[in-house]
Amino acid sequence: MLTVRAPATSANLGSGFDVFGVALERPADIVRVSKADRTTIEVTGAGSQFIPEDPEKNTVGAVAEALSAPAHIQIDKGVRPASGLGSSAASAAAAAVGLNALYDRGYSREELVPVAAKGEAVVSGDAHDDNVAPSILGGFTIATESGVRQVDASIPLVACLPDIVVSTRDARRVVPEHARVEQLVETVGNAATLTTGMHRDDPGLVGEGMHDTVVTPARAKLIDGYESVREAALAAGATGVTISGAGPTVIAACYEGSQRAIASAMLDTFGEHDVEARAYQSRIGRGAQIY
Ligand code: HSE
Repeated sequence: MLTVRAPATSANLGSGFDVFGVALERPADIVRVSKADRTTIEVTGAGSQFIPEDPEKNTVGAVAEALSAPAHIQIDKGVRPASGLGSSAASAAAAAVGLNALYDRGYSREELVPVAAKGEAVVSGDAHDDNVAPSILGGFTIATESGVRQVDASIPLVACLPDIVVSTRDARRVVPEHARVEQLVETVGNAATLTTGMHRDDPGLVGEGMHDTVVTPARAKLIDGYESVREAALAAGATGVTISGAGPTVIAACYEGSQRAIASAMLDTFGEHDVEARAYQSRIGRGAQIY
């Protein structure tokens, strides 16, 4: 039997819609895999009541199928589904890394990214590598049609998850179909600034580069209190604030030492909107680990 811990992730980071992603230190899914004649799945932990155990319908079932690696797979969810923190991607990433090792398949971490994405497509209906890539590789990832690039960045972050549900379907439906050329120019500038910040481990540049005027404003309307939570985090020292993935988690970048004040400002402000929330103080972290 093998145990794998795969971290939550935050995709988009504002200017990198469907491209950028980072691994967080916490929360994480813990997945145990043991060889079996056919795949069976058991799910416990955060939001497990919403996750099907049928291998045909669960993200890890498709991963086992793709690797021809039947197994009994126990998933202990630390990452709540529909959080914007790459919940299904964390399970898929852990299963891909675990089953590859269990069956000695010999795939590299990079090669496991599309395998895990195939699993994620089972639940989301749409395969994006922007969550599975950082959950497998760690750090900051840039996932494009031509592959994945990875940077070992270490930026302090606060991820604040309100107790509300935003369906990914709705969050994708509100994405504008068109952007103006000025917005394109601004987005390219911001994405380049953010990437430079990751290479330099500079939270100021990362926060500045998170600014996005195309997708984030449309999605913000789905998150009660988003604008005031964003303002409160910035006032408490965040260098940039945006929606994590499809939401409702709100993510802030910051300098070392200001995470606690930012987390408390975000929690209090959600509270003023009668929204309960929890905050994860984290840094950009490592990818899936086998124990
Ligand atoms: N980039 C996706 C979205 C997140 O924001 O809808 C899931 O991969």
